[in-house]
Formats: sequence, C-alpha cells, structure tokens
Amino acid sequence: MIDIETLKEHIDYTLESTHLAGIGERRQGKVRDIYIAPHRTILVASDRYSAFDRNLALVPFKGAMLTGIASFWFDATKDIIQNHIVAMPDPNVIVCKKCTVLPIEVVVRGYITGVTGTALWTLYMTGKRDFGDFTLPDGMKKNQKLDHPILTPTTKSDEHDRPVTNAEIVSEGMVEEGLWKQVCEKALALFARGTEIAASRGLILVDTKYEFGVDEDGVLTLVDEIHTPDSSRYWKLASYANRFDSGLEPEYFDKEFLRLWFKEHSDPYNDKVLPEAPKEMVAELSRRYIEIYETLTGKEFTADFSVPIEERIANNLKSYATN
Ligand SMILES: Nc1ncnc2c1ncn2[C@@H]1O[C@H](COP(=O)(O)OP(=O)(O)OP(=O)(O)O)[C@@H](O)[C@H]1O
Ligand SMILES: [Mg+2]
Repeated sequence: MIDIETLKEHIDYTLESTHLAGIGERRQGKVRDIYIAPHRTILVASDRYSAFDRNLALVPFKGAMLTGIASFWFDATKDIIQNHIVAMPDPNVIVCKKCTVLPIEVVVRGYITGVTGTALWTLYMTGKRDFGDFTLPDGMKKNQKLDHPILTPTTKSDEHDRPVTNAEIVSEGMVEEGLWKQVCEKALALFARGTEIAASRGLILVDTKYEFGVDEDGVLTLVDEIHTPDSSRYWKLASYANRFDSGLEPEYFDKEFLRLWFKEHSDPYNDKVLPEAPKEMVAELSRRYIEIYETLTGKEFTADFSVPIEERIANNLKSYATN
C-alpha cells in the first residue's frame, strides 16, 4: 500500500471541482459534480471532504476511492437490484442511467450506535423505545447488535433530514405503496449481502444509506453510491465482541478526527475562512480511504500522479459530449 510520506508529498494532487463543457447541465452536490443530460446523468466524485455544510479539505484520491468502492458494491449486488451504472470511463466518474430519484434516504441499521442528535443510540438514551415502525426493548447497550436490521428512512432535503415512518411515506405521497414495499425489501436484501461480504473482509457493515430511483422504463433502480465509507459505517469484526464486552468503542474506519480538528481550531459554522488542515491529517485520511478500498475490493491501488485529474476526466469524457 502507498505510504503516508508519498501522500504527504502529493497532498495537492486533488480534484476540487470540475467545470466540464458539453456533457450536460452542471449541478454541485456536497461531494459530487452532477452533469444532467436528457437521457443520462454523469456523476464526478471530487476529493471534497464535507462537514458543517461546507468543504473542509481536499483529500487525495478520496473521489476515486469512493467511486471504486461503489463500483465494487454495485457489481456485487446487481443480482439483487439493477443499478444506475452505464459506464465508468474514469476512476472518478460514473455515467448513470437517467433516473427519477425517490425523495427518501433509505437508512438501514444493524447495530444501535451513533452520537448525533438523530442517531438511534442518542434517541434510545433519551428514553425513546417506540420508533413508529419498530420498538426497541429496555436494557440495550451502546453498539449492541440489533435482533435484525431495521429501516429508519428520512426525507431527503437540503435542510434537515426528517425521520419518516412507512405510513407517512405512503400517505404523504412521497412514494407509492407498492413501490415503497419493493424499496424496503431491496434495501434489506442489499444490507444482508453487504453484511456477508464485509464479514469475509474482516469488517462489520454497521449501518448505511441507500438512494433509489425509477428509470425511464419505470423500473426500480439503485442510484447514488452504495456501502462507501461516506454513506456507511464499518467496524472491525475481529475485535468487536471483546471490545463490546469490555465496554470499549469498536475499532472503525474513522474520518471524524479531521472534523473534530476543525471544531477545536475554528468556528466551522460561522468563520468565513477556515484554517488549513494539517498535511499529516489529510494524508492520513487519504491513506484510510485507500486502505478500506483495498480491504473491500481486494485490489491494490497504485497511484499515478502524472496527469492533472480534471484534464484526465475531460479527456475520458470526450465521447460523452452532447453537442
Ligand atoms: N442516477 C442518478 N440520477 C440522478 N441523480 C442522482 C443519481 N445518483 C445520484 N444522484 C444524486 O446526485 C447527488 C450526488 O451528489 P453528492 O453525493 O455530492 O450529493 P450530496 O450533496 O451528498 O446530496 P445528498 O445529501 O442529496 O446526497 C445526490 O443528490 C444524489 O441524489
Ligand atoms: Mg451524497
């Protein structure tokens, strides 16, 4: 695996954003640049590390690792549900089928954990047991495995994602009943497959978020990304049971440390300009993305620093010009 010194040397070998002409109307997400053409959508994964509703740093190879991991999982689950991949002309790019994305983030959880206000563990600690579609027993411990994976869907909005029940999703007309039933079945089947493959790589798939869409023929399709470290939580399987029994936090793929650094060194919601993250930390985060890519896919990643990334992407997308 590539070493941290090499990553530090090439800390600026990153993709901030793209402005590609002729491949569709551009929209910018937190992490991806999206190009929308009449019959396809192109997703370009940048190296942006986003938190507090802004970009905190550029992490070498993050976009390529996310794309590589998603591609691995799309392939490993294509017998469960069709996905949006049409082509991958570049390590950072997925050319997608045109889909209408359903307005729900389909969250699946295998364990009770988390620290944010909406985390299952946080809500459980406040005494909540009835979650609408399921109830939890008293006496659970943080990071405990659930009897079976559960769905905790939220609305997909730019503001704050709001938890919604199955009944609300249907009665408020967000997704038609039959289709929503299919989504739930597919999400659980995807999570089961994810759990099984992750275990074979020494990992626990703790929780994740799926997005679904409907293609131009009306067929349910898995879109966005799947089982990436940005959309999922992974723990190390080997040490989980002992650590849980001893009341220790699991070992995990951690990208929080950089977010915490900003919290300690700035006021990230209010400061106009943020300090620059220490090179060592950014290189370490890059190394972790590469490590989890290699662990999951079983492929060795070899870095090529020779071609500027945006130039490479523009070249690889030449044949996709719409005019
Ligand atoms: N096949 C697809 N067709 C259309 N849109 C898609 C498709 N796949 C993913 N998307 C959308 O593209 C965006 C991906 O960009 P990015 O991951 O940067 O978004 P984001 O800022 O995280 O926003 P979100 O919170 O909605 O995911 C998401 O809004 C996602 O819903
Ligand atoms: Mg996203």
